Amino acid sequence: MTDIAKSFGLLRLPDSIAFGDGCRAGIARTVASLGNRALVVCDPFLSSTEPFTELLAELEALDVTVAVDTQVVPELPVAVVKEAIERARETRPHVIVGFGGGSALDLAKLIALGVAHGTPLSRFYGENQVPGQVIPLVAVPTTSGTGSEVTPVAVLADPDRDLKVGISSPYLIPKAAFVDPRLMVGAPAAVTASAGADALVHAVEAYTASNHAPQWDDQLPVFVGENLLSSTLALEAIRLIGLSLRNAVSNGEDFEARSGMAYASLLAGMAFGTAGTHLSHAIQYPVGALTHTPHGLGTGMLLPYVMQALLATDATRLASIAEALGVPAGSIVESAQNAISEVASIMADIGLPHDLASIGVTEADLPRIIELSLTVRRLVTNSVLEPTEENLHHIVRAAFDRDRTELTPLPTIASNESETYK
Ligand SMILES: NC(=O)c1ccc[n+]([C@@H]2O[C@H](COP(=O)([O-])OP(=O)(O)OC[C@H]3O[C@@H](n4cnc5c(N)ncnc54)[C@H](O)[C@@H]3O)[C@@H](O)[C@H]2O)c1
Ligand SMILES: [Fe+2]
Repeated sequence: MTDIAKSFGLLRLPDSIAFGDGCRAGIARTVASLGNRALVVCDPFLSSTEPFTELLAELEALDVTVAVDTQVVPELPVAVVKEAIERARETRPHVIVGFGGGSALDLAKLIALGVAHGTPLSRFYGENQVPGQVIPLVAVPTTSGTGSEVTPVAVLADPDRDLKVGISSPYLIPKAAFVDPRLMVGAPAAVTASAGADALVHAVEAYTASNHAPQWDDQLPVFVGENLLSSTLALEAIRLIGLSLRNAVSNGEDFEARSGMAYASLLAGMAFGTAGTHLSHAIQYPVGALTHTPHGLGTGMLLPYVMQALLATDATRLASIAEALGVPAGSIVESAQNAISEVASIMADIGLPHDLASIGVTEADLPRIIELSLTVRRLVTNSVLEPTEENLHHIVRAAFDRDRTELTPLPTIASNESETYK
């Protein structure tokens, strides 16, 4: 039971968030309220679909002049983003709509930033480097995973850097988000799996992040760690993902599962957008750069190993995750272990690889992966584990050997060990 008197809460969110089947009918009116010249950034595949054509017609009916940019490339190379910003400058949009998966939404955010504050974007890499408001954004996700519709983050690939880079600033939070599960029904199983796995990682890492109240009279970091408000959202996201993810992957037409995932991914985005994520994300950055595998595939595969490493210090919160997932309860440590097993089983059932070796990582790569993970300070310092080479080594080694037992020193929380969780 959280001690509210000793805890704190913080959330930063869009001005409005709409969720539900058919809520996309409200997009055009919201866009029109933000200006009469819109740039719509849309994934090339989705630009030929009926909901998108309908949106364009609705915008025209409201006298909004629309330009469409469909040059969305997964992983967003910085050169592609720069060209998109140059094209956008010519149309001088009042409002930018992102319509698609995380790549389209992040491109919309980066265009909104570049048009407002110029390039090169490298000036804004990291946290809190954006100097002020960007062009107002409306975000419409078509995958359930990134939560980008509500988060202060955009991710891109810069060939001058070893890793993908993030730009994190509250100014990048969209003004409005429309999460309509009907738009996710066509997403392929592999995209549904990797995006959905990432949503589970967002929720679990937001829930298990470091939890010290920030220095309130300083400029707050973008990610402040686990707190009362983010945790309520994260636990509900975990519960829903436990119920929906397997079915959403095995049967994309299962609208109940699609809706559960769309809602859970939104809640997880709301949670991690303020709490932040930690070690699975830090390790995925170099792993993704090395293996060119999707973000969520890597974070999802790594999560059970990261949870296992947390068992010795954080069994109580892992046991709460077990309760959210509806897995059998026992002592706190037993419940925590059951949560880890259930997360590993979800990842296996949706077809994610089990270990680093099976996605092409070699033993010789491990030291470099550890070294680069440690450079992602905002993530490694948001964990309750000390950001040491030794701690990272244990996790990466276990994920390479496919052996979580390497990470199971007996928990040191003697006073809790015999308590029954409930
Ligand atoms: N900004 C954030 O907070 C945040 C968080 C996590 C990840 N990301 C980034 O998001 C990106 C991944 O996003 P993603 O997983 O949504 O994938 P994506 O946007 O890269 O899309 C993957 C593929 O799915 C297709 N697709 C998307 N929606 C579809 C639909 N409804 N029907 C049919 N096809 C569809 C796309 O055409 C594309 O080919 C990564 O670049 C990652 O770094 C951002
Ligand atoms: Fe993620």
